[in-house]
Amino acid sequence: MSALENRTIVLGVTGGIAAYKAADLTSKLAQAGAKVRCVLTAQATEFVGPTTFQALSGNPVYTATVAPPETYGMGHLALARADLLIVAPATANLLAKAAHGLADDLLSTTLTAVTCPVLLAPAMNAAMWANTLVQRNVATLRAAGYHFVGPATGWLACREEGAGRMAEPAAILDAAEVLLWPQRDLLGRRVLVTAGPTREALDAVRFLSNPSTGKQGYAIATAARLRGAAVVLVSGPTHLPDPPGVTVERVTTAAAMQAAVLAQWPTCDLFVGAAAVGDYAPLDPAADKPAKVAGELTVRLAATPDIIAGVARARRPGQVVVGFAAETHDLLAHARAKLARKGLDLLVANDVSAPDAGFAGDSNRVTILSANGAAEELPALSKRDVGHELLARAARLLGR
Ligand code: C5P
Repeated sequence: MSALENRTIVLGVTGGIAAYKAADLTSKLAQAGAKVRCVLTAQATEFVGPTTFQALSGNPVYTATVAPPETYGMGHLALARADLLIVAPATANLLAKAAHGLADDLLSTTLTAVTCPVLLAPAMNAAMWANTLVQRNVATLRAAGYHFVGPATGWLACREEGAGRMAEPAAILDAAEVLLWPQRDLLGRRVLVTAGPTREALDAVRFLSNPSTGKQGYAIATAARLRGAAVVLVSGPTHLPDPPGVTVERVTTAAAMQAAVLAQWPTCDLFVGAAAVGDYAPLDPAADKPAKVAGELTVRLAATPDIIAGVARARRPGQVVVGFAAETHDLLAHARAKLARKGLDLLVANDVSAPDAGFAGDSNRVTILSANGAAEELPALSKRDVGHELLARAARLLGR
């Protein structure tokens, strides 16, 4: 489920070259199920035409001072009934107008009329962004409760590097979801999540690992952030991009994952161990690449540390520990024994032999076990929704 589904979002587009990225944002919002109404300033239409936004949003586009006839000249008031107003790109001119309550076209009039959250994605030349007056307007807007995403630092269309690039559409979408997400039961909490596989060197180029993609752990990190938490994600090697708004620490081995986790744990409220930590590591990995031997090769392995068991042992009263268990048979019996042995509060058990569960896919079918003996079997859900289900239960335990 997306927080944007069926929500009315007004997307204001002002006259900057980043307006072309607003087209992509419109498409992403529509794909997330939002009802998107685009308002283009006169300058914005110089960069991208209204037809593009009309096609991507599937709705009429409002330009400059012209609202569709069905609003009887009250376009700004019709638009003001939105759930969220995004302005992307927001030029220095738009920020100045908004900071002073100026209302001289449809977008600025709508901005002064809305009561919903407003998310601004500034985009301008680096010198303009650094300008004292622009920064003063930004401070005024922040103090008045306006939300900002970006600008990012990088290549600018004026052929300079610097701060002023509009935040990427994915980052704007994420910021919008955070603003609209209804459950905020982890607000003020720090959540530590592990994800992905670990990798143990056999020699300089070979390693032992497993097929974990990290998708479940990354989805939990994102879900926890939507619910208001500050999130630290300790990730083994994956191909996934860092989730927006999450602090990511990348590690390779089980020992490195354990060190990173134990350094963070004292200041966290909740630990979710979604990583597929390898159970064994070669005892004496070769520093170089040994030549192939004929016939059999014997490698001595040593058990890796059990990270989550150590986290549970080190916990203070009030800290909550959630584990995962991937099983291929006798799911519940093995999972119950694991919960007790490792000293966990909750355990999310999944049968990795089932077709709609497990490693690489986007969905998972799990049973959530509690230390009090309860077992809840959930239907097949997206990995993000599995995250929300377990976080809702963990938040209730934290609240006790
Ligand atoms: O024992 P098993 O690997 O099935 O347990 C799974 C749970 O324990 C997961 O939460 C996993 O992240 C955690 N684990 C760990 N350190 C290990 C092995 C597993 O934290 N060395």
